[in-house]
Amino acid sequence: MIEKFAHRVEDIEISGIRKAFEALSGEFFNLGLGEPDFDTPAHIKEAAIQALKSGFTSYTFNKGIEELREAISDKFKRDNNFVVSPEEIMVTSGASEALHIAILSVVEKGDEVLMPNPGFVSFAALTKLAEGKPVGVPLSEDFTMSAEAVKEKITNKTKVMIINSPANPTGAVESERNIKALVDIANDHRITIISDEVYEHLIYDDLKHISPARFSDEVITVNAVSKTYAMTGFRLGYLAARDEYVEQMLKIHQYIQACASSISQEAALAAIIGPQECVAEMRSEFKRRRDLAVEALRDMGMEFSTPKGAFYIFPQVKDEKEFVERLRRKKIIVTPGSAFGSLGRNHVRISYATSFEKLKRAFKIMNEVVNF
Ligand SMILES: Cc1ncc(COP(=O)(O)O)c(C=O)c1O
Repeated sequence: MIEKFAHRVEDIEISGIRKAFEALSGEFFNLGLGEPDFDTPAHIKEAAIQALKSGFTSYTFNKGIEELREAISDKFKRDNNFVVSPEEIMVTSGASEALHIAILSVVEKGDEVLMPNPGFVSFAALTKLAEGKPVGVPLSEDFTMSAEAVKEKITNKTKVMIINSPANPTGAVESERNIKALVDIANDHRITIISDEVYEHLIYDDLKHISPARFSDEVITVNAVSKTYAMTGFRLGYLAARDEYVEQMLKIHQYIQACASSISQEAALAAIIGPQECVAEMRSEFKRRRDLAVEALRDMGMEFSTPKGAFYIFPQVKDEKEFVERLRRKKIIVTPGSAFGSLGRNHVRISYATSFEKLKRAFKIMNEVVNF
């Protein structure tokens, strides 16, 4: 009998993060979601309003408007230390679309895609949609992805390695040395790197964000304005790669998306070329909350690796199901660790993208739940 739905959709599940979100009603402490709680800075909203007012509401070039691609090219030079021409940049509907078309353009049926385990939910789901095989790389104690662990997972079917630093759900940040080692392995085995850098500006302490594209041409760099400028709803991301990659990805983008929103592109332009103080302010508030979370979890006697970036902390718990449920009864939403891969089991992801005061109250309640 012919089946109604394609295996590619039947084989993936609704994200565990969304499930928790959709179950919300009434007053909750939502420590489950991955988006900044800040309002989009005023000058960025103003650029969107101006785009609307001036009638900038039609399709744009498939790749995105030229000014924005030039601004992104300058940004890569300024922030990430690598040179990429505006022609090698594509503007997408969020980093989500960029990841999707990057994976679709290189992964064939049965190809293996290395990814951190635990790691961001989309990596495995998008790989499956492309009929590839997600291969989770077990992480070190501090949740970084070591070159040795990657090496053990390489086979003659390995096609892609996904690097995500700073990482969701762990907050881990890869060092320059490790990024170089990962790039070397990828080059030795002719593996394309997809580097998801959406949290690049949310790094605390003295670490620096390092883009693999600094050291290799075989990298598709994925980024977005979503997290950096509190613009998740604008759905505006971008990617950079050598011509031959962009040529293939553009074909997919053209048919599944046509172009990113014209209004959001104007807003993203204002974000990238405008004043960057808003980013520093949000980062410093996130750091304050990270410190609060670390202290609170330590006081509760929980085991965790101190996150160095993004806005998540990923402590161990005895039984994640029970823990999540007990918190839910107290109106606190956190995400079960197994939503991020098998090795995330018996952890929870706590997002500190919520106000300091709310976080404080939530941790107080959590303390009672943990130590009851
Ligand atoms: C690691 C990572 N990559 C990509 C995305 C998606 O970003 P966007 O909202 O720009 O599609 C997220 C969102 O949570 C993320 O955590």
